Amino acid sequence: MDVVVVGHVDHGKSTVIGRLMADAGALPEGKLEQVKAMCERNARPFEYAFLLDALKNERAQGITIDTARCFFRTPKRRYIIHDAPGHIEFLKNMVTGAARAEAALLVIDAHEGIQENSRRHGYILSMLGIRQVAVLVNKMDLVDYSRTVFDRIRREYSEFLANLAVQPERFIPISAREGANLTAPTAETPWYDGPTVLEQVDSFEKNADDSGRPFRMPVQDVYKFTEEGDDRRIVAGLIETGTVRVGDEIAFWPSGKSSTVRSIEAFNAEPLREAHAGQAPGFTLTTQVYVKPGELMVRKDQAPPQCGTRFRANLFWMGHAPMLRGKRYKLKIGAARAPVELVEIRGVVDASELSSIEGKTQIDRHDVGVCVLETARPVAFDLSADIERTARFVVVDQDEIAGCGIILEPVEEETSLLAERVRRRELAWGKGYITPGERAAQYQHAGKFVVFIGAPADGTQELAKKLELELFLNRAHTYYLSLSNVFDALETAGEAAPLTREEQIHGLGELARIITDAGILFITALSDADEYDLAKLKLLNEPNELFVVRVGDAVPEGFTPEVSLPAGPDVRRALEEIVRALNASGILPEYSI
Ligand code: GTP
Ligand code: MG
Repeated sequence: MDVVVVGHVDHGKSTVIGRLMADAGALPEGKLEQVKAMCERNARPFEYAFLLDALKNERAQGITIDTARCFFRTPKRRYIIHDAPGHIEFLKNMVTGAARAEAALLVIDAHEGIQENSRRHGYILSMLGIRQVAVLVNKMDLVDYSRTVFDRIRREYSEFLANLAVQPERFIPISAREGANLTAPTAETPWYDGPTVLEQVDSFEKNADDSGRPFRMPVQDVYKFTEEGDDRRIVAGLIETGTVRVGDEIAFWPSGKSSTVRSIEAFNAEPLREAHAGQAPGFTLTTQVYVKPGELMVRKDQAPPQCGTRFRANLFWMGHAPMLRGKRYKLKIGAARAPVELVEIRGVVDASELSSIEGKTQIDRHDVGVCVLETARPVAFDLSADIERTARFVVVDQDEIAGCGIILEPVEEETSLLAERVRRRELAWGKGYITPGERAAQYQHAGKFVVFIGAPADGTQELAKKLELELFLNRAHTYYLSLSNVFDALETAGEAAPLTREEQIHGLGELARIITDAGILFITALSDADEYDLAKLKLLNEPNELFVVRVGDAVPEGFTPEVSLPAGPDVRRALEEIVRALNASGILPEYSI
């Protein structure tokens, strides 16, 4: 069971964990004494929080701890306790799947009372869909175990959480330092008759209802067997929700490809008949489908996920720089990554006050924006009202996680941001006196963007270059450019960071527009383009269409190329076929080669 401990700085999170481990007898033999002795030697007062540091990398008695987590067990079960000193780290872990906290202990210092982060963390728990929450009102020793103080905090904080639809299971008055109500009740709070922290933790429900929900697994990796004669692939990931069995029909989104589960492989263990939420198995399928990491695997007999580029979300912003419209960020959802932009701010809420701030044009640090985001390519997701786990995402700004959010609903796009940019570009295009028709008449062919797709090993690039030569020898105005040339050029033109694949495709599309407008048959070869890349190139090259030649059968599904050739085609025959197709679509005048 994963439990996270959150709360304002210095309210006693680490002390709660250290003390809990000590009192529950979860520490290695002699550890407590050792740390106490060390403190004495250094003339420092002993702190239970030091235990967490002292346990780092400790392996004795099956206890391990790293910076963020410690493991311990009660007679009932095993725990992973996450100490969340910084909410950013924790959020990052939660959203990337490194942590799967199902319950939370929220620590509030009785003496200091509810602070900003007490509220923010409550907000984050609600965003992450962690509904099992116990509030520990700590340092009761500093307020003489006053029931009045405890009741006031309980009342105020319950009101706050009620706005977030989080209903804490319990408020527990404790003193982590004195060990009051942690593993044993204390005589200091005769007015409290609820469970101790340990009892509370043991009463949290495991995987509340994750296994009963629709099956969802973000694909982390696709491994290919390399043994001879074996072309099976293993699709691997962590199951977020639901259950899947051998023989189930499954689909992958956003590609929409489908197949049937042939086997469920477990690491170093017998194959399984069934796998469920929390497990990280690998699947083999009955048919060969080309699935990419980042897709969402679902069962076909259950509700499909959403799939699109625009959605309305609640976004908690943690970045130092505000989130701005028109700026490019990276979205991570499940195992998928996509460039993302803020399209519209519908409202901004201060996460600690839950008060709304009117008329904001940007989302500042610690704001919660109700906003519309748009990704550069479709992503698969669920709505937070349906399946919280697959509705969560983070926004990355320059390699830093700067925001996290949940998706509330899909938004129909009237025109995408890209289409809008292309429209503006065309309006602003400074044209010369020569029309495209006049140019085509003189050149004896139209300008066109000819895109070859297929693996280099299948002879794709070679064929593209041969086509350039062939057309040139027939007096056409033509030009071949490989993708890497474009990027080298763009990168040396002062772009600081290496260009992402998305930016590369974008650059190529813009370039194609200029070259085809100049009346040239512009040829390139892409090894791993999918239908979204092609759709994007098409849009960027507007109003000139693409002419797609596919070599081999790998990619992409759901796109009909103008010409389809087998892998490693006979060059002469292939060229003839391409030229015939160019003739047929009126790009080249009739001639045979
Ligand atoms: P950060 O990790 O820095 O956010 O702090 P934290 O929430 O982990 O707090 P930590 O456990 O380090 O405790 C902060 C201080 O509060 C320490 O000096 C503790 O000794 C003290 N403290 C924790 N619990 C209690 C308590 O029950 N009573 C009293 N009097 N002091 C406590
Ligand atoms: Mg701490």
